[in-house]
Amino acid sequence: MPLHLSWEQLRAAWTELGAKDPLWAVATRNDKREGKWEPEEFLQTGERDVARYHDLLKRNAGSPAEFDHILDFGCGVGRMSLAWSRRARRVTGVDISPGMIAKGQEFARNAPNVELHLHEARDLRCFEDGRFDLVFSHICLQHIPWALTAGYLREFARICLSGGWVVFQLPSRPLSQLSWLAAIRKKIVDRLPFGLDRAYRNWKYGCPVLFEMYFVPSENVIESAKQAGLSELHREPDQSAGASIESFIYIFRKP
Ligand SMILES: C[S@@+](CC[C@H](N)C(=O)[O-])C[C@H]1O[C@@H](n2cnc3c(N)ncnc32)[C@H](O)[C@@H]1O
Repeated sequence: MPLHLSWEQLRAAWTELGAKDPLWAVATRNDKREGKWEPEEFLQTGERDVARYHDLLKRNAGSPAEFDHILDFGCGVGRMSLAWSRRARRVTGVDISPGMIAKGQEFARNAPNVELHLHEARDLRCFEDGRFDLVFSHICLQHIPWALTAGYLREFARICLSGGWVVFQLPSRPLSQLSWLAAIRKKIVDRLPFGLDRAYRNWKYGCPVLFEMYFVPSENVIESAKQAGLSELHREPDQSAGASIESFIYIFRKP
């Protein structure tokens, strides 16, 4: 059972991750820790992932070859925003982490149709209704407790243009459970006082920050999207959260 982090704890965690090793915090390959991602190779992973999303959208949701204005929610360093910018007139990315946005702005300096902004709010009221024809989020909502994500989902529906698409990835359940011993150890470690939890995680995993993975059954996601006024078009199995996790890409349309 993951700890239910508050919004302030989430912001603190991603602020620290973005300041320390932003590319690794986005694409957590063991051999790429401590600044070992080459920017070109890293950004290529965004091109690959966006090509897959775009293909899914074209095949299952009648979406266009080029979008008008895309929102990339939890854009990190703009890995996906930059790839979308070759398929859209304009892309706006928002993220909670100053370090991520700073690095992203550096990557996007030659992409005039990409804007990345620090976004420190629990809602998206900075955007008016119907602003985007694609509202998109990848490997971001999986780290946010469902009570907060459900609120963002309502906001996605509101700021999506009528006839536009809301598309995101979210894990539904772990395919293997932690052993009871590992589960108890995690419970104890995550609640240790005086920074001992951070020291343990740093020693064990090479990163002191707690960033949890949250699981939401598909039925709940689809029901919440429906209540927000979205229609489900497609659900695609996905492995972005790892091979031991059942995860889906959801494609909704705003009627
Ligand atoms: C694993 S990274 C993925 C970045 C990007 N979507 C990609 O695929 O390259 C998750 C991102 O979500 C951002 N994030 C987490 N919670 C957020 C929130 N409540 N609002 C905005 N961004 C958030 C983090 O700062 C981090 O940059």
